[in-house]
Amino acid sequence: MKKVKYSEITPEKIYLRRREFVKKLGFSTGSLMIGQNMIGKAFAANDNLQEKITERRYVTTYNNYYEFGTRKSDPVEKSQNFKTSPWNLTIDGEVEKKITLTVNEIKNSFPIEEKIYRLRCVEGWSMVIPWMGFSLNKLLEKASPNGKAKFVEFTTVFDPEQMPGQRYPILKWPYKEGLRIDEAMHPLTTMVTGLYGKELPNQNGAPLRLIVPWKYGFKSSKAIVNIKLVEKMPISSWMQASPKEYGFYSNVNPRVNHPRWSQASERVIGSGILSERIPTTMFNGYGDQVANLYSGMDLKKNF
Ligand code: MTE
Repeated sequence: MKKVKYSEITPEKIYLRRREFVKKLGFSTGSLMIGQNMIGKAFAANDNLQEKITERRYVTTYNNYYEFGTRKSDPVEKSQNFKTSPWNLTIDGEVEKKITLTVNEIKNSFPIEEKIYRLRCVEGWSMVIPWMGFSLNKLLEKASPNGKAKFVEFTTVFDPEQMPGQRYPILKWPYKEGLRIDEAMHPLTTMVTGLYGKELPNQNGAPLRLIVPWKYGFKSSKAIVNIKLVEKMPISSWMQASPKEYGFYSNVNPRVNHPRWSQASERVIGSGILSERIPTTMFNGYGDQVANLYSGMDLKKNF
């Protein structure tokens, strides 16, 4: 797909690119319905679940971003003056070539594509979001991971002056997450630079955040400043906070409940006052693409 400038995107272009995206996944474009405000229906990478793209107003006002507070409304209310420029991302650790890039260098290095993926939060709700970004593997390859690189650790910026939540010990700051190298290299793992054909709002993790569609939402770190290739499995902030509740893998799995609640179904955000619930699917519906990463593994033990 061609590189698209945000300013050039018209709803029609988004529509056409969405058709391309759906085609690429091998679904028939005939089954794609687009509504008046681009709030149409699209097939996620899931055979049987037809889903609505969540309206932008929910995606940008109902957020988890503990650096700005723990209420869903805190991120949109408290992040508007957060400075996302200048911003550097460093990739280091077990690499042949340590690199530091500005956000603009990153955005200009790779074609930005629209990718419609569902975000399933561990709390039991989900949204279907048109992300803008590129596969993380392209960026990691720039640094040439060496033979010792078995895991990847992502670190969010630490800036308590700008991030009021970091003044309190809600989590061990800075927010850290990790993936196995093959998970990080999987084409579904996406570095996100925008939403709905526009810049990424601060509350959604500007200027750079991850989306790992088959894992619970907390694996998708926001405001990333460092990516470190490492030999040993990193301890994420959530594992550190509550190891019995949050494991390293955190693959969406309706058969493994959170110790305090079921993971069998999820609330569809934006589905009206009667709040629709749908069954949660293994790997968030992306099993046909990622299940092979875990063949032979006990996913109850490796939750
Ligand atoms: N990244 C950072 N740095 N801090 C956070 O608190 N919350 C996570 C994830 N990334 C979080 C984070 C959780 S729990 C979820 S569900 C998603 O971000 C929410 O992303 P969204 O607000 O864009 O929907």
